[in-house]
Amino acid sequence: MVDKIVLDVSDLRIDFHTEQGKIRAVDQVDFQLKKGRILGIAGESGCGKSVTALSIMRLLPKPVSRIVKGRALYNDQNIYDLPVSDMRSIRGKKISMIFQEPMTALNPVHGIGKQLIEIYKLHFPGLSYREMAAASLKMLRKVGIPDPDKVMKKYPHHLSGGMRQRIMIAMSLACEPDILIADEPTTALDVTVQAQILDLIRSFQAKSNMSVILITHDLGVIAENCDDVVVMYAGRIAEKADALTLFKYPRHPYTIGLLKSIPSLAGEPKTILPTIKGNVPSLQDMPDGCRFASRCPVAEEICKKKVPGQRSMGHNHTAACHLADTKFFEKKGFI
Ligand SMILES: Nc1ncnc2c1ncn2[C@@H]1O[C@H](COP(=O)(O)OP(=O)(O)OP(=O)(O)O)[C@@H](O)[C@H]1O
Ligand SMILES: [Mg+2]
Repeated sequence: MVDKIVLDVSDLRIDFHTEQGKIRAVDQVDFQLKKGRILGIAGESGCGKSVTALSIMRLLPKPVSRIVKGRALYNDQNIYDLPVSDMRSIRGKKISMIFQEPMTALNPVHGIGKQLIEIYKLHFPGLSYREMAAASLKMLRKVGIPDPDKVMKKYPHHLSGGMRQRIMIAMSLACEPDILIADEPTTALDVTVQAQILDLIRSFQAKSNMSVILITHDLGVIAENCDDVVVMYAGRIAEKADALTLFKYPRHPYTIGLLKSIPSLAGEPKTILPTIKGNVPSLQDMPDGCRFASRCPVAEEICKKKVPGQRSMGHNHTAACHLADTKFFEKKGFI
């Protein structure tokens, strides 16, 4: 059976106009989110994960940023072309987002109850106040908030980071969206709370067959939670595949480098892990060819001159690398 595609992003290009000039933060980004699947977007800080996510919510900062090209098809409509009023009825209801830092998304001057009820007021204006309050309470219970009656009356600063993130989840799932975008939902939290929050997202996803985009720089989180993976590097997609394929048969030297730098329980204790040498080039000063070339251990002349296209590595598996070829990498002693 072919999985239904709920979101189809193609050739997305986003510019920022800064004091230092124009930068292309997202370039030629393509990916598809399938119904009931969790798609992970991974990559180092600044590679364009949040900008991509914000574009789908139509929340990119204005006027500094601009979508120069591309589309994001949702129900056969291009999100980027929708009138503001149509977008308002999709955002938070059909597509919602959990932000990295809940304090920036929660309003500090309003109680939790009021903020939840506002969501129902906006998207289900036919409900009575009593019904909205009951739905809010139910939602808080569902995300594992103890004493939800009391929490309804509290303000964000009264709650721990983990509780605030649960509230954010309750708010983002209140309307049972088709798509949930979780942008580093656990980065600010303790490891044990991180696992609880990810379990919570996954259990909602499984129950409602919702589709999820999970953004993280942690490949361990991707391995445990995602069905499909997009690896980004400096605004472009380096590699994408289903998670099993990507972890077993990575083809892009950047993905291979990332995977080598993950500690393994099977490895020798206290060994120094390999890291990817060098830094991501500045978006203001991108090289002509492959953006990873200056850090790539196997790069050749062509890599510095020509931008690599997405090459097919098998079923739904692509790598933007001129040299992606297992035999070649083996010969070079890279894998
Ligand atoms: N408000 C802004 N003004 C100017 N440039 C911006 C702005 N927001 C993002 N950018 C540019 O877009 C690039 C991508 O940013 P983005 O926030 O998507 O990175 P990210 O992959 O989410 O990183 P992180 O892992 O740190 O969250 C940045 O490197 C920056 O150059
Ligand atoms: Mg980000």
